[in-house]
Amino acid sequence: MKGINVGLLGFGTVGSGVVKILKEKQTLLQDKIGTKIVLKKICDKNIELKRIVKIDKDMLTTDPYEVITDPQIDILIELIGGINPAKEYIMEALKNGKHIVTANKALLAQEGKEIFATAKKHQRCVYFEASVGAGIPIIKSIREGLIANRFLNIHGILNGTSNFILTRMSEDNFSFREALKEAKKQGYAEADPRLDIEGIDSAHKLIILAYLCYGKLFDINDIYVEGISRISSADIIYAKDMGFNIKLLAIAKKIKNELEMRIHPTLIPYNHLLSSVRGIFNAIYISADLVDDLLFYGPGAGQMSAASAVVADLVDLTRHIKAGIFSPVMEIIEDRMVGRLKNIEDIESRYYIRFLAIDKPGVLAKIAGILGKYQISIASVTQKERKKQKIVPIVMITHEAKEKNLKEALFRVGQLNVIKDKPVAIRIEEL
Ligand code: HSE
Repeated sequence: MKGINVGLLGFGTVGSGVVKILKEKQTLLQDKIGTKIVLKKICDKNIELKRIVKIDKDMLTTDPYEVITDPQIDILIELIGGINPAKEYIMEALKNGKHIVTANKALLAQEGKEIFATAKKHQRCVYFEASVGAGIPIIKSIREGLIANRFLNIHGILNGTSNFILTRMSEDNFSFREALKEAKKQGYAEADPRLDIEGIDSAHKLIILAYLCYGKLFDINDIYVEGISRISSADIIYAKDMGFNIKLLAIAKKIKNELEMRIHPTLIPYNHLLSSVRGIFNAIYISADLVDDLLFYGPGAGQMSAASAVVADLVDLTRHIKAGIFSPVMEIIEDRMVGRLKNIEDIESRYYIRFLAIDKPGVLAKIAGILGKYQISIASVTQKERKKQKIVPIVMITHEAKEKNLKEALFRVGQLNVIKDKPVAIRIEEL
């Protein structure tokens, strides 16, 4: 059989990783799948830049339509990222009969419905293993290995950059800015790092996982998204003192017929596996009815890890094309047990709370009085040593409380004239 021809849009970090693998592992891949994967054309805005791999100049173009409309190309790899023009290129490529491999989580989370519908109409596939967890085969595992399961919960550390920053702050006394600078230098962060640190990248990835698990592509505007930019070194230290690490956690939790979908900094007890996920590593902890709890773990960002997943998709598609079957990523079946998304105000959680208060008799009683009024029960309380004159941090862990009550109570406490800064609250997840 003739080889399968591939075109690439985006010769950046991951793109050059893919080219390197296809070049260096061509024989290995051909031996494994019995078909040659031939990289025909590469498009990038800048084709002069030196890459980690040498390439025949004739393969390079700056015109994406030279790739998209080339009748010889079977599969288009989209690695330019962002919404536009990536969406336009993918739609045109589908109409031109190409299958798609993409790592573009933002695009799938935002425009997935239209893209998957267009793919179906043209009997073409869109594969996206690299979009979540880079080289961790989480999407293949959900759509194949776990296909007979009903999914209960997903708890994921899905953003390598945020986890890298929190780890550096926790273990090496880095400031937030220093840690972010380092993540950018290592090439882990998005072109716009606000996507990483404000939780948006994690939300995109959670939307994709939830789509596979529950059959609905949720809108990011209906999900609670809070990033790590307001996490202070002090809170990381106090949490550690109490036996917790702070992680940016993406949560999808089925409770009766409602689904909680939220991304926020979270205290996780040391004895849970997710608590020890460090640096750029990602972990996805899935609970499902047949397999119980599973943990997927590995580097969630990085050139070769993401490129490995792109090549895995290419191989899958090559096998399908060769067998003459149309195999969408899977027929997504809606989980009818999942009704609506729960509003963040309606969730219940335990909380870490910190106040900066004037150190004088009666202050603690005032705070506890307000918390009590809002049905918030305190599990532990610690007053830290005085740093500035007469002002001390008071740190509390609560029992399970209603989010709405907690917010109102903290607002009231914040209004006391003995409280010197906005109270801090971070949710705790016991798992
Ligand atoms: N910026 C992303 C992260 C890259 O830090 O996880 C991988 O999707």
